Amino acid sequence: MTDRTTATLRIGSKELELPMFSPAAGPDVIDIRKLYSEAGVFTYDPGYTSTASCDSTITFIDGEEGILLHRGYPIDQLAEKSHYLEVCYLLLYGELPTGPQLEDFQSLVTNHTMLHEQMLYFYRGFRRDAHPMAIMVGVVGAMSAFYHDSTDIRDPWQREVASIRMIAKMPTIAAWAYKYHIGQPFVYPCNSLTYAANFLRMCFAVPADDYVVNPILARAMDRIFTLHADHEQNASTSTVRLASSSGANPFACIAAGIASLWGPAHGGANQACLEMLEQIGSTDRIPEFIDRAKDRDDPFRLMGFGHRVYKNVDPRAKVMKQSADEVLELLGIDDNPKLQVAKELERQALSDKYFSEKRLFPNVDFYSGIILEAMGFPTSMFTPIFALSRTVGWISQWKEQLEDPKHRIGRPRQLYEGETLRDYVNVEDR
Ligand code: ACO
Repeated sequence: MTDRTTATLRIGSKELELPMFSPAAGPDVIDIRKLYSEAGVFTYDPGYTSTASCDSTITFIDGEEGILLHRGYPIDQLAEKSHYLEVCYLLLYGELPTGPQLEDFQSLVTNHTMLHEQMLYFYRGFRRDAHPMAIMVGVVGAMSAFYHDSTDIRDPWQREVASIRMIAKMPTIAAWAYKYHIGQPFVYPCNSLTYAANFLRMCFAVPADDYVVNPILARAMDRIFTLHADHEQNASTSTVRLASSSGANPFACIAAGIASLWGPAHGGANQACLEMLEQIGSTDRIPEFIDRAKDRDDPFRLMGFGHRVYKNVDPRAKVMKQSADEVLELLGIDDNPKLQVAKELERQALSDKYFSEKRLFPNVDFYSGIILEAMGFPTSMFTPIFALSRTVGWISQWKEQLEDPKHRIGRPRQLYEGETLRDYVNVEDR
């Protein structure tokens, strides 16, 4: 960050010089930290469309160009050449690991995949029909009751242990939420498998049968994890940062992120998108749904379309589309009706003025559900898989904030439009 020039703000006859900074990439920012103390005014930005809430060195998005970089590396290169645990290392520590560093990291994560056995009883307290996201919010929050030795956020060692624990245990937590949801026995992690293969096994193996992980599916799973690993200051990440700003323990903060991710405007969109493709059913019904999406009086939106930051194709969607083709072909599913509807819907929407003028393009969730369904996951598992993948992003951002000497409790202000001072009226007089 370099000092650039200043911005002049005129309020009536008063002039205020506000410092400006040029970041390493992206638009310049105006520093308004002293605005209230010096001018007595707030800024107004619901939805934070023009507000940088922190400085960060982790992820950069150029929404105009459709670029996503993790520590400077483009997401398409990482998706093609790297793998999830290497990307985790990169996000957490800032550089790609050397061979021995990667080996150590993989072994560390692999050796923390089991959950405290007492947590089994915690799962059993949920109703069978609980959504796996509901279980995940509860179980991750409850980790603070099981792992007391990694909740002191002032201790760098405890922060490190909490980070590794969450990355390592999240596949077990998500897979067990699924197993509980469908009434099957929990499958314990297997340390000889890769991160992605282990997750598939914990989801799909049953004690009565041998289960061999299909390496093609493990690779596709790993790519889905990689594509969702981090995405700078989105709603769930900002939730984690805000929760953490008060000094809350790491497990509570990540549980808050999972809760925020659940919404259909964010991580819940992959489930909503697949349900939409199912509802559309066949390509001849697409125009009807496009018309509904364009109708201001109809709340229907094309799920998996549009993004707050990308005003160009989401680079993750490109890789995801390619992956959907590959996985379905390898599984011998070449006539998947949902994939056909998705491709035709994308084609028609992209050639429609409404979508081009509003710069609405497919996002990462448009094709991910098709791959996950082909792998055998029910829609209720789509968002838990997103949460599992994003955990490393949340943790990296959480650590970065705690290590930043400038960090303070997050406390937005408001534009108050309610009643002003008035006297209480007794109930009999109202
Ligand atoms: N279908 C139809 N119209 C849309 C869509 C859509 N998917 N998305 C945005 N629009 C329209 C809005 O109606 C609005 O129109 P207007 O200007 O006439 O009022 C305009 O485009 C701008 O939309 P906003 O909602 O103001 O944009 P915002 O940046 O607040 O929202 C969001 C972004 C939430 C992602 C939105 O595009 C959306 O709801 N998409 C569908 C849900 C989805 O796919 N979410 C996943 C996001 S990616 C992720 O979290 C992993």
